[in-house]
Amino acid sequence: MEKIVVKGGNPLKGTISIKGSKNSVLPILTAALLASDGVSVIHDVPKLSDVYIIIDILEHLGAKCSWDGNTVTIDSTKVVRLDASLNCVGDMRASFLLLGPLLARFKSSEILQPGGCAIGVRPIDLHLKGLEALGADFAQTHGVIKGSTQGLKGARIYLDFPSVGATENLMMAGALAEGLTILENVAEEPEIVDLANFLNNMGAKITGAGTNIIKIKGVPSLKGTVHTVIPDRIEAGTYMIAVGAAGGDAFFENTISDHLKPVVAKLREAGVTVIEEANGIRIISEGSKFCKGLYIKTMPYPGFPTDMQSQLLAMLLCSNGRSYVTETIFESRFQHIEEFRKMGADIILAGNTVALTGVDKIYGANVNATDLRAGAALIIAGLYAEGETHVGNIHFIDRGYDGLVENLKALGADIKRAKFDE
Ligand code: EPZ
Repeated sequence: MEKIVVKGGNPLKGTISIKGSKNSVLPILTAALLASDGVSVIHDVPKLSDVYIIIDILEHLGAKCSWDGNTVTIDSTKVVRLDASLNCVGDMRASFLLLGPLLARFKSSEILQPGGCAIGVRPIDLHLKGLEALGADFAQTHGVIKGSTQGLKGARIYLDFPSVGATENLMMAGALAEGLTILENVAEEPEIVDLANFLNNMGAKITGAGTNIIKIKGVPSLKGTVHTVIPDRIEAGTYMIAVGAAGGDAFFENTISDHLKPVVAKLREAGVTVIEEANGIRIISEGSKFCKGLYIKTMPYPGFPTDMQSQLLAMLLCSNGRSYVTETIFESRFQHIEEFRKMGADIILAGNTVALTGVDKIYGANVNATDLRAGAALIIAGLYAEGETHVGNIHFIDRGYDGLVENLKALGADIKRAKFDE
C-alpha cells in the first residue's frame, strides 16, 4: 500500500504555480455535453483522478476526448448513450453533475445514485426538486436514478440551501430549457461564475452568476467553445496554510486573492504575513508556534470555506491559546480530529464545534486521510511535527491535488511517496 511520508522541521521556501480548479473543471467537463455542434477546448485542466473518471464517463456516453498537456478537447456531437450507470460513477459524487446536461440535451438521463462519503450523506434532493420544477420526472430503483422529460421549461426555483452542485446542475439544465429560469438562494462560489462564463461562451444567456440570483434565458442549442479554467483557490489556500504551519517564505503564482479573502483574513489574524501581488500571493511565517488562536465558522461563499477547515486546524495545533472551529456545511467533516490527536494535539469535538488548545509540540504518527482535504491537512501537520508522519488512504489526496508531494518537495519539505506491505 502506498503512503506519503513526511519528516517534520523544514520551513517552506520558493515559488510554485497553482493549477486549474478541480471544483470548476468537473462541472465544465459535464457542461461540454451540452454542445450539439463543435468542439470544446479546455485549458489548465488539473491531472486528478476525479477528472480522469469524468472523462471516462464522457467517452462511455460517446464523446471524443483527448489530452494535450493540461488541455482537454471534447467533441460531444456524437454522444449516443444516455446511461452513466457505471461502477465508477458511484465512486465519484461529481457524476451527479451529468443529470442536468443529459436531461437538457437528450431529455433523458440515467446515473447511479451518488454515494455519500466520510464528510456526510451528500443528498441530491435539491438537484432533483429543481430539475422536477423544470419539467423532469425521476424514478429511483436499485440505486439508479432515471430521469426523463418531454422538454425542460423555464421556472422560478428557490434553493433551500445554496448548494454548489444543485446550482450548477440547474444552470446547465436551464441553459437549454424553453423560456426564462430564475434561480434564487443559489451558491455564489467563483466556480459557479467560471461555469456560467463557459456556458455563455457556448451561446447560453446566463446573468447573475456570483450573486444569489441567477437568470437564464433558454436557447435552442449550444456549441463547443474554448475556455481556461480558473486557478484552484482551495489548492492555493492549502499551500498558503502549509507555510503558515511549517514556517518559511513562499510565493504562489496563478492565484486570485479575491477568491481567497476569508483565508487571507484568517491567516493575517493568526499573525501570518500575506502579501497580495498582481500575479500571486506571498506568504511569510515563523510557523505554528507563532500563530494566534482563531475563531472559525465555515459558511457558503464568500464565508470561510469548508474545504479549508481541516487545513487551518492543522496550522493551529501548536498555536498560542485556544481556537474554536465550527463546521456548518457538512454534518461530519471532523474525522481528522482523531488523527490529529494521534500526533499529540489537544483537540476535542463538541457537536459541530472543535475546541483546540495549542500544545508545545506535535509528533509524527501513522495517520489516515478521511477525505481529500483532511489528507492534505495531515501532511501539513507532518511538515512541523517531530519525526516522521505516515499518511495512508492517499487516494483521497490524488483526487484533489495535482502534484502535492512534488510541489512541497520543491519548497524544501522532506516528503515522499513510499510503498509498504499491506
Ligand atoms: C461542492 O460539493 C464541492 N465539490 C465540495 O468540495 C465543497 O465542499 C462543497 O461544494 C461546498 O462548498 C465540487 O464542487 C465537486 P453542496 P457539493 O451541494 O456540490 C447539502 C472538496 O473538498 N445538500 O454545496 O456536493 C449537503 O449535504 C469537495 O473539493 C443537500 O442537503 O456541495 C451539504 O451539507 C468536498 N441537498 C451542503 O448542502 C442537496 O441536494 C453543501 O453541499 C445538495 C446538497
